[in-house]
Amino acid sequence: MPLRGRGRSLLLLVVALWCSALRCAAPDLAADRAALLALRAAVGPGLPWDASAASPCGWRGVGCDNGTGGGRVVALQLPGAGLIGQLPLGTVGNLTALRALSLRSNALSGGIPADIGNCGELRYLYLQDNKLAGEIPEGFFLLGLLQRLVLSNNRFSGGVSLEFNKLRRLATLYLENNVLTGTLPADLDLPNLQLFNVSDNQLNGPVPESLAGRPASAFSGTTLCGAPLSPCANTSPPSPLPLPPPASSEDSKSSKLSTAAIAGIAAGAVAALLVVLAVIFFMLCFRRGKTNKADTSTETAAYGDEDASPETVSVARAEKSGVKASRSSKPTASDAKKLVFVGGEPEVAYELESLLHASAEVLGKGWLGTTYRATLEGGVAVVTVKRLREVPIPEKEFRGTVAALGALRHESLVPLRSYFYSKEEKLIVYDFVSAKGLSSLLHGAGSERLDFTTRARIALASARGIAFIHGAGAGSSHGNIKSSNILVNDARDGAYVADYGLIQLVGASVPLKRVTGYRAPEVTDPRRASQEADVYSFGVLLLELLTGKAPANSVPGSDGAADLPQWVGTVVQEEWTGEVFDASIANEALVEEEMVRLLQLGTECTERRPDRRPAMAEVAARIEDIVGSAQRKTDSAEFHSVSADHSA
Ligand SMILES: *[C@@H]1O[C@H](CO)[C@@H](O)[C@H](O)[C@H]1NC(C)=O
Ligand SMILES: *[C@@H]1O[C@H](CO)[C@@H](O)[C@H](O)[C@H]1NC(C)=O
Ligand SMILES: *[C@@H]1O[C@H](CO)[C@@H](O)[C@H](O)[C@H]1NC(C)=O
Repeated sequence: MPLRGRGRSLLLLVVALWCSALRCAAPDLAADRAALLALRAAVGPGLPWDASAASPCGWRGVGCDNGTGGGRVVALQLPGAGLIGQLPLGTVGNLTALRALSLRSNALSGGIPADIGNCGELRYLYLQDNKLAGEIPEGFFLLGLLQRLVLSNNRFSGGVSLEFNKLRRLATLYLENNVLTGTLPADLDLPNLQLFNVSDNQLNGPVPESLAGRPASAFSGTTLCGAPLSPCANTSPPSPLPLPPPASSEDSKSSKLSTAAIAGIAAGAVAALLVVLAVIFFMLCFRRGKTNKADTSTETAAYGDEDASPETVSVARAEKSGVKASRSSKPTASDAKKLVFVGGEPEVAYELESLLHASAEVLGKGWLGTTYRATLEGGVAVVTVKRLREVPIPEKEFRGTVAALGALRHESLVPLRSYFYSKEEKLIVYDFVSAKGLSSLLHGAGSERLDFTTRARIALASARGIAFIHGAGAGSSHGNIKSSNILVNDARDGAYVADYGLIQLVGASVPLKRVTGYRAPEVTDPRRASQEADVYSFGVLLLELLTGKAPANSVPGSDGAADLPQWVGTVVQEEWTGEVFDASIANEALVEEEMVRLLQLGTECTERRPDRRPAMAEVAARIEDIVGSAQRKTDSAEFHSVSADHSA
């Protein structure tokens, strides 16, 4: 019940605020306060905690509960807070009412303190992305209520102990990228496990039977063997268990999992085949271009998504030769060598001929086609040209659809200016906008730090553009919303929506597998895009903006990534909403409420049932409200800090 979970986390927040207002102090809370101050002295001298406050409940990252005894610290959440050094005894271990602890994305070193076992109420423990080392301490396995345990990207060593079986409620166990050694215990058995990963450790030997149904990617970068990996070579197959599993429900569960694994492998094989076919197809096209005219193009055969790094090429000649070939072979009326302008002429008129002589730079390649930035002769204009790969629909339909797209004019839509249609070539020409793909801003090599308000403004501009498309008619939709189709302007306070409506022109050639991360569950044919499906994809985009995680199959290398709505759902349902946020915004305590509201909106947009998703106009209105509220808070904080500077 997500509502209840969210309600509870809000309640926690309210209670924390209320406590700080009333200074509700109690002996236990005073002990918690002392432990927190000891923690700050040891690893976080920069924490902005007011030591003169009698209660720690109002401190950043501290959550309290007023159970019996007048309140305790139940949550400590300091992701990316610049903590550095070793956690001593008597700090975390003295917070004995703690239910949730996140110290992820800091520079903590040393081991997990041995007294962690005192925190018997602990359910959520996130310590990933630190430099923690040593073995997992014995006391750790006293934490019998633990549900989510993430220790990834540290330097933990030693083996994976059979003691993990004591953590009966464990649902997430992420241990990837440590230096764990030895084998996984054959009898490892965690009945409630949902998410599991031990990749990139020095583990070897057979995968325990209870984990055989997990995806192979959960064990990558190890020398483990046996299902779901390749069979163990030298050793005899693991001896059968002395007793068959007691419950038949367990049995059916594990067989279901392995069916899923088989389906996954089959899907992977199909995808690989499709990629090979696509490469062959591309090479054939490329060859044809070459035979028409030698040295036409220096295009590479790289099949990236839309975020290929720019490279300068002389594509115009290749396009020209394509046009010529079609004209000479079979001239038809539709081959009229003219650009068709839609939605008004540009400021500087240009013709096909000048477009074909333009110098062009590849901006990206995708399944829809290749995008170029073309500078027209004499530098009179810069345009973006989309050269469509394959257009299966009839000419009349093509012309009608593109004309309708060209009629859409909104400040958040990249303006479609003209098109060219011949048997051989289909070009769509947009005004050039100086902007950068959101995908590379979030996940690219030189990704930028974007604060929450900036992210929310980008979401708002995108939502307005999409809502405008939806407003054009019941059947009007974008069809391919993803972060590489959102272009963020240079000032980073607005965005343009690109590639709207194109998938309907070429959709049949787009394999479903390519767009899984953003695709609504009900969509089986990408060309039959609906507004509800757009809302779903936009919801995934919101979750991507907030978590900083790329949805499955959206950027190269994210193939095995968890389904984003599902991943967010598992965390949010369990009352600890704050844990999903990207570490670089998680500390913006001032706008925490707005972050939670945007997250709620993202989960509503990604409801499985299309009729439960809000309409895009409502989504835009709600984001507008969130942006306004965040803006007011940051503005007034800035005002206060400026006036404090002046008085100092
Ligand atoms: C932690 O608890 C122990 C035992 O209750 C106590 O002696 C110690 O002073 C506490 N440490 C801090 C830093 O509060
Ligand atoms: C919280 O504490 C106050 C008084 O300290 C009490 O009136 C209230 O019922 C408590 N709420 C819960 C949920 O325990
Ligand atoms: C496990 O982690 C590795 C490394 O981070 C990742 O590549 C893989 O996709 C993950 N697999 C699962 C099932 O989580």
